[in-house]
Amino acid sequence: MGLNSNDKVKVGIIGVGKMGTYHANVLSALNKDVEFVGVYDINRKRSEIIARRYNIKYFETMDDILENVDAVCIAVPTKYHFEVAKKTLEEDKHTLLEKPIARTVEEARELVKIAEERGLIFQVGHVERFKGAVTELRKIVNDPYLIEARRLSPWINKDWDTGVVLDLMIHDIDIVLSLIKSNVVHIDAVGKRVKSLYEDVASALLQFENGAIASITSSRLSETRIRAMAISQDKAFIYLNFETQDINIYRGASASFFVSKKEITYKHETIVERVLVQKENALKEELVHFIECIKGETKPIITGEDDVKTLSVTIDIIKSINKKMAKERVW
Ligand SMILES: NC(=O)c1ccc[n+]([C@@H]2O[C@H](COP(=O)([O-])OP(=O)(O)OC[C@H]3O[C@@H](n4cnc5c(N)ncnc54)[C@H](O)[C@@H]3O)[C@@H](O)[C@H]2O)c1
Repeated sequence: MGLNSNDKVKVGIIGVGKMGTYHANVLSALNKDVEFVGVYDINRKRSEIIARRYNIKYFETMDDILENVDAVCIAVPTKYHFEVAKKTLEEDKHTLLEKPIARTVEEARELVKIAEERGLIFQVGHVERFKGAVTELRKIVNDPYLIEARRLSPWINKDWDTGVVLDLMIHDIDIVLSLIKSNVVHIDAVGKRVKSLYEDVASALLQFENGAIASITSSRLSETRIRAMAISQDKAFIYLNFETQDINIYRGASASFFVSKKEITYKHETIVERVLVQKENALKEELVHFIECIKGETKPIITGEDDVKTLSVTIDIIKSINKKMAKERVW
């Protein structure tokens, strides 16, 4: 708050586990408009390791770090998102909170309201939105009638505090809701617990008021990593591979049959366009956007209302899964 355009934004990180360390890595390289002040983690050892690695301070308490910064990145486990973000916003700090925004829609709304009332930038870490390919996708996609998304990851051994829907599927839900400009009118979803206390695989079917359909599948138990989205719209089938950031657009499909004396041959032709994508580091783009918003140089591309809507659909998917899973034996 109260920053001049030439001032560097003093930023700290709260929670420096896996994701917080990625934030530290990027922040330490953003010299121009940012002063990476320090970190705070309830695990003092983690704070010390990261502080030493990036030659910054570590703070003993949350109050200490908040006294020394204009803005924070929060990367604590999801179950603490609400309490930590509420505190940082109430201390008038611009806040970039890792996804998901919170565990309930009421909590999400409260955070958005506090930020609005205090004129703070409050951004949720929907990092996929900052991939060059997703930015391009938003220029190409126009009134889709079907979106199919797959996000499969290998298992990571950790004490999960959420299922795969809040962990992975939320990225695709956010993107789908940004591409289909209509309200969700029907949700059906199924899931299965396999290794954690929550659903580890899930599949959701969404129907929108304008008739569009989205089918989203996520897994954190896959033997390979796949992140892909296929979009069908009038006269185009668009295929995005998030891993390589390649976009192919298929158009003008035609099928023909050739009948000879011996056999019938089927021929299918399509024109394929390959879109040139600027491949930047998405987390860097996300953090630069956060800083530019704080400095008043641009407006947030994802609004608080978007974040609440994404969480609300995500929670409805989880409810749909849980209703069916209650009848299933956990193994
Ligand atoms: N945007 C993405 O693609 C993406 C990817 C992975 C994780 N995440 C999100 O990032 C968050 C963190 O995930 P992670 O994998 O880094 O977890 P992690 O367990 O590796 O790290 C969490 C860190 O927070 C610390 N911590 C816990 N409670 C704290 C508190 N109250 N105050 C300060 N520090 C605290 C822990 O000691 C730990 O070091 C999760 O909400 C997750 O959903 C986002």
